[in-house]
Amino acid sequence: MNQFALITGASKGIGRSIAISLAKRKFNLLLVARSAPELNALKLELSSQYNVSVEVFALDLSVHGAAKRVTEWCTDNAFPVSALVNNAGFGVWGKFDSLSIDEQLNMLQLNVTALTELTYHMLPILRQNQQGYVLMFLVRQRIRQCLHWRCMRRLNHMFCRLAGPLGMNLKIHPYQ
Ligand SMILES: NC(=O)c1ccc[n+]([C@@H]2O[C@H](COP(=O)([O-])OP(=O)(O)OC[C@H]3O[C@@H](n4cnc5c(N)ncnc54)[C@H](OP(=O)(O)O)[C@@H]3O)[C@@H](O)[C@H]2O)c1
Repeated sequence: MNQFALITGASKGIGRSIAISLAKRKFNLLLVARSAPELNALKLELSSQYNVSVEVFALDLSVHGAAKRVTEWCTDNAFPVSALVNNAGFGVWGKFDSLSIDEQLNMLQLNVTALTELTYHMLPILRQNQQGYVLMFLVRQRIRQCLHWRCMRRLNHMFCRLAGPLGMNLKIHPYQ
C-alpha cells in the first residue's frame, strides 16, 4: 500500500496505539508530536516490525502556523496522505474561573484551532485520493460548565455538518 496516514499526537497514548494499528494494516505513517526521541523510537519499531515507511515531524502544534508547516511537509515530500488522525490534544477539567486562563487558551489553541487549521489545509491532499478519512477526537464527558466540553461539542457539530459538502469520498468520523 502506498497510502500514508498522518497522526498527530503519535508519541504516546491513543495516538501511539493508532499508529501501531495502522502499521499492522500496512499504512505508511507520518507521525507528529513534540517529543522527537519517542517519535524516532516508534519510527524504528514500526518500520522494522511491519515493513512500512515511517516519517516523523517533531513540533508543537499549538504554536501559530504549525498546522500549515505540517501540510507543507506533506506537499513538499509528495506524501499521498489518505487518512488524517486528529488526535493531539489534552484536557483541563474544572470550573472555568478556577482554572488557569493560559492553560485553557493553550488547550483551545491545540484542540480546536490547530485541529481546524490542519483539517482545512489537509483537505486538498486527502481529496486527491479515492478515499480520504478524517478521524476526530472529541470529548465524551458532559461537564457543562467546562469551556473545553462546550467548544468540542460545537466543533463536533460543525465538522459533522461539513462532511456532506466535502464530497462523497471524504467522511469525517467523530470519535467520542
Ligand atoms: N484518554 C481519554 O480518556 C480521552 C478521553 C476523551 C478524549 N481524549 C482525547 O484523545 C486524544 C488522545 O488522548 P490520550 O489520552 O492518548 O493523550 P496523551 O496520552 O496525553 O497523548 C497526547 C498526545 O498528544 C501530543 N501532544 C500534546 N500536546 C501537543 C502539542 N502542543 N503539539 C503536538 N503534540 C502534542 C502528545 O505528545 P508530546 O507530549 O510528545 O507532544 C501525545 O502524543 C486527546 O486529544 C484527548 O484530549 C482522551
